[in-house]
Amino acid sequence: MTTGTQMTEPEIRHLRVGDERSFREAVAEAAAEVPPWPFAFGWSDGMSFSEYVERVSAWERGESLPEGFVPAGYYVVVVGGEIAGRLSVRFGLNDYLAEIGGHIGYAVRTAYRGRGYATAMLREALGICAGRGMTRVLVTCHADNAGSRKVIERCGGVYERSTPDPDGRAEMRRYWVTTG
Ligand SMILES: CC(C)(COP(=O)(O)OP(=O)(O)OC[C@H]1O[C@@H](n2cnc3c(N)ncnc32)[C@H](O)[C@@H]1OP(=O)(O)O)[C@@H](O)C(=O)NCCC(=O)NCCS
Repeated sequence: MTTGTQMTEPEIRHLRVGDERSFREAVAEAAAEVPPWPFAFGWSDGMSFSEYVERVSAWERGESLPEGFVPAGYYVVVVGGEIAGRLSVRFGLNDYLAEIGGHIGYAVRTAYRGRGYATAMLREALGICAGRGMTRVLVTCHADNAGSRKVIERCGGVYERSTPDPDGRAEMRRYWVTTG
């Protein structure tokens, strides 16, 4: 499925304090979607946005991590000054991530889908991982998520096996991607 709209060259970068309005809109939109998807880990509407920006930056450095949380980078894809999607890159795996979540997570706001932004984010993530010396990463998607499956396979994902989703949704397909 595609909107047929050309991709505007996206900027993929860390979250900035100036992103607050667009970020809040994206969070609300993602929560209202069916099924809902999380735009940002550890965020709640009453929080100070600037503190949140600092917090995700600390997590990337491996500082002040919540219990069981691995060091992870949080990035946004920005198109025409608006946040169009988000990218999470985990620099390690815990038990949950090793089976279900994988190293990389991405999501694109509805209005920006079908323009290659998820593919651009996964490619960017592979470069970020390579820069950290990670040669092979795990990327997963629900079996009924045809768009994400296409993104992973287009970026060189090699299917390994499927595993049940603990929340009872369609099973998760596990892929390994070589970062080089
Ligand atoms: C899945 C998702 C990330 C894809 O983002 P996107 O920016 O639209 O992805 P891209 O444009 O890079 O590529 C998607 C490809 O899948 C195709 N596609 C999308 N939905 C499809 C469907 N239902 N059936 C078949 N192909 C589909 C698109 O046409 C596109 O292929 P094309 O470039 O050959 O036209 C986006 O739909 C999303 O954020 N969904 C909600 C959250 C989510 O599922 N995150 C991923 C968790 S693993």
